Amino acid sequence: MKSGIYGLVLVVNLISIFFSINLLLYRKHASRYGKKKERCNQITSYEEDKTLCPLHPENIHGREPLNRSIFTLEALQTTYDYMDHGHFRPVTCIPRQKVAIIIPYRDREKGLFTLLNNVVPRIRRQHIEFGIYVVEQIAGELFNKGVCFNVGFEQAMTEYNYDCVVLHDVDIIAENDRNFFSCGYYPKHLAVNVEQYGYKLPYKYYIGGITNMASNVYRQINGFSNQYEGWGLEDDDLYRRLTVVHNLDIERPPAKVSFCGSVNHSRKHKWNKNRLLDRCNIYINRPRGWAFDGLSTLKYQVEKIEDRKLYKWILISFRTSKMRQEFVERFRIEDYKNLQPVNAVFNGNTKTCYWALKKANKTIDQSLVDIVQKSKKSSR
Ligand SMILES: *[C@@H]1O[C@H](CO)[C@@H](O)[C@H](O)[C@H]1NC(C)=O
Ligand SMILES: *[C@@H]1O[C@H](CO)[C@@H](O)[C@H](O)[C@H]1NC(C)=O
Ligand SMILES: *[C@@H]1O[C@H](CO)[C@@H](O)[C@H](O)[C@H]1NC(C)=O
Repeated sequence: MKSGIYGLVLVVNLISIFFSINLLLYRKHASRYGKKKERCNQITSYEEDKTLCPLHPENIHGREPLNRSIFTLEALQTTYDYMDHGHFRPVTCIPRQKVAIIIPYRDREKGLFTLLNNVVPRIRRQHIEFGIYVVEQIAGELFNKGVCFNVGFEQAMTEYNYDCVVLHDVDIIAENDRNFFSCGYYPKHLAVNVEQYGYKLPYKYYIGGITNMASNVYRQINGFSNQYEGWGLEDDDLYRRLTVVHNLDIERPPAKVSFCGSVNHSRKHKWNKNRLLDRCNIYINRPRGWAFDGLSTLKYQVEKIEDRKLYKWILISFRTSKMRQEFVERFRIEDYKNLQPVNAVFNGNTKTCYWALKKANKTIDQSLVDIVQKSKKSSR
């Protein structure tokens, strides 16, 4: 009987020793993994002889024509061997900002390689720490650039604690390395004089091409809208989220610094009347829904992620129609009229929407009717 109890005590002791050892091993590993993560994320561990990177780097080249030669990814990887899993950090000084560059992508391989071949050496000279994220939407549904930006933002933020995010179209490339990718207090529109628009701003409130903002601002505006399929108005929606909804100014670099080349692509955007109407209807008649349309209501699947030397490649799939359904559903719960009003911004696109909606006998938000009438009066 007694020996039975001793046996039991012995077994219990053995079991508890076994678990203690396991716990110790686990802690050891956990701390090692913890440390490894810390090394990636914190800049406090730099050696003391390093100082902050200069605000005014010395080896800047200024405006240079785009290098339009086509190279293979392998060749570019050899040229830019200082890149590592799509990331670069200056080695001689402590970078002031971590900048995530997000590039929505589909079917533009040559454009992407041209972009990398031009952007990587330019921003390296700016002495920033940066990561490049290429977000590709799987073939099938219409391209939705806003969702790709939102996914890129989410994925980038899980990897590093980026201070600043650059929203970068694949077909527009800054020609001047004085056009700094790092963020200021206000959002900054970098692609001002764009080749495909005759090296001019296409319209006053244009914010497409290349735009950056502090990561917390991107969160604050709930990112991009998830609702725009195909092409057009998603950038205008972003502009309105920043300016009208959050009262931020948009900064622009000096004109001479902001020249950007365009990369030609063979397939042009196709206009489709119904899709235009759909986008206009969201843009003009549903702007108050920004708080439940964006990062907070993003739904997608990651199909593949690859750490390539020059960029992180994220292949995703999603259904815009599903997010639309949930967006519309939300309006049944919320009383749209009680949400904070968001006025229309007057530009070429809103005018197009005004006439398209009017022609189709659709309702038009009063704020647009007002500014169109005002513009008619002032042009008389
Ligand atoms: C264009 O880019 C390639 C690859 O990076 C480089 O080898 C070549 O020298 C560049 N050409 C010019 C004119 O800069
Ligand atoms: C791009 O296309 C435009 C016209 O569509 C043409 O004038 C221009 O030369 C092209 N540029 C390049 C680099 O192919
Ligand atoms: C819009 O309404 C007008 C009259 O109110 C009508 O004549 C016209 O056919 C309608 N257009 C469409 C596209 O339904």
